[in-house]
Amino acid sequence: MIKSLVVAAATNNAIGKNNQLLWNLPNDLRFFKNVTWGMPVLMGRKTFEALGNKPLNGRINIVLTSSKFFKKEGTVVVNKIKDAEFFATQNDYKELMILGGAHVYSQTIDDADKIYITRVHHVFEDADAFFPVIDEQKWKLISNEDHFKDEKHAYDYSFQLWEKKP
Ligand SMILES: NC(=O)c1ccc[n+]([C@@H]2O[C@H](COP(=O)([O-])OP(=O)(O)OC[C@H]3O[C@@H](n4cnc5c(N)ncnc54)[C@H](OP(=O)(O)O)[C@@H]3O)[C@@H](O)[C@H]2O)c1
Repeated sequence: MIKSLVVAAATNNAIGKNNQLLWNLPNDLRFFKNVTWGMPVLMGRKTFEALGNKPLNGRINIVLTSSKFFKKEGTVVVNKIKDAEFFATQNDYKELMILGGAHVYSQTIDDADKIYITRVHHVFEDADAFFPVIDEQKWKLISNEDHFKDEKHAYDYSFQLWEKKP
């Protein structure tokens, strides 16, 4: 099964602050919905809370926590990353979408096959959550689509797909 990270990260790899996103980019939300729709999505307990403490509709929500007591309607709760992969494989999904946050990305990037990244072309100095550096020795840029800031988007951004080199 393919394991894909899905992330929006700034030039300095910032992804969040105080358990919230750093920007509002409606086109990125649309892109995120398209890429993840109908798929199993794995997220850390903090990201689940940052997304409003409720499951994303139209997706199989898998929440990772060390707690044995965490329960939320409409989610599958796992205590190990391997359990999420097992769940997705058992249910015949071909791709597991890993939605973060920082702690989950850092534990999964080495074992991942793809990265769908929205690169936000701005440096956020005061962030407290970061995406790992994409090591270009290990990862190949497959596609890049640039977008420029406008009245609804405060920053330039690019949709990129990276794949792990063989
Ligand atoms: N820009 C983006 O694309 C994007 C995407 C996602 C998140 N974010 C941002 O990232 C930040 C959140 O990231 P974060 O690193 O603080 O939190 P996180 O990775 O979302 O969640 C961390 C929690 O996940 C659970 N966890 C992680 N690894 C585990 C493991 N191996 N086994 C069991 N449980 C595990 C633990 O939950 P328990 O404490 O319950 O045990 C841990 O406290 C927020 O600012 C959010 O807005 C940004």
